[in-house]
Amino acid sequence: MLRISPRFDRPRPASGRNTLARIYDAAETGWQDSISKLGFVEAYSDLMGQCPNTSVPHPKVMDVGTGTGAFASAWINAHGAPAALTLTDISPAMLASATSRLPGARAIHAGLGTAMPDVPPQNVVLCAHVIEHLDDPIAALSWLFDRLTPGGHLVMAISKPHWCTAFVRWRWGNAAYPPQKVPSMLARAGFCDIGAYPFAKGPPSRVSHGYIARRP
Ligand SMILES: C[S@@+](CC[C@H](N)C(=O)[O-])C[C@H]1O[C@@H](n2cnc3c(N)ncnc32)[C@H](O)[C@@H]1O
Repeated sequence: MLRISPRFDRPRPASGRNTLARIYDAAETGWQDSISKLGFVEAYSDLMGQCPNTSVPHPKVMDVGTGTGAFASAWINAHGAPAALTLTDISPAMLASATSRLPGARAIHAGLGTAMPDVPPQNVVLCAHVIEHLDDPIAALSWLFDRLTPGGHLVMAISKPHWCTAFVRWRWGNAAYPPQKVPSMLARAGFCDIGAYPFAKGPPSRVSHGYIARRP
């Protein structure tokens, strides 16, 4: 059985009027500056450099839980503009911020795990620091798997247990998963060619970890 650190393996639910979407709406101002100062923009850029170029001439890319679009921007900086970019988030303010940074992208105000009938299968799915908010991480990874074409890649960052993560969890309520466990979680969701990529320095190296996996 897959065992995960008991302190971090469940998201703490947002309550009452203070839903997760409202919390992220309120955090949008200053979010991009904060993640940049903390080193996440640089860390995301390093991770995207590890992602194989898609062999598809006109790739479709979707960033799930895009926030201010930092993860999608890092992919574009490393691989060039995709033929179609779709950004999704449950927070309208975050989604508006991402689409203002990435004009031409299609914005979908919807959560991971919900039906997205008009979205075609994607060649690349991006997802940074979102799985941690879902009650069932394997179901969430399976949902991401189902969004991909055969051969398509998932690029992901997930919080890992660390005393710094305890502070992040107190503020945001997210779970955290040990890097030794995440590859088996990805395998359970159907992924292959799973790679785990530590971030090199600073806060990202302490609280997060990168992963790249392929749909067979
Ligand atoms: C920690 S932020 C990460 C944002 C961005 N991916 C980044 O790395 O900078 C989490 C984002 O996921 C969004 N989010 C949370 N739960 C979600 C869900 N179930 N589906 C889609 N987005 C979600 C939040 O609104 C927020 O914008």
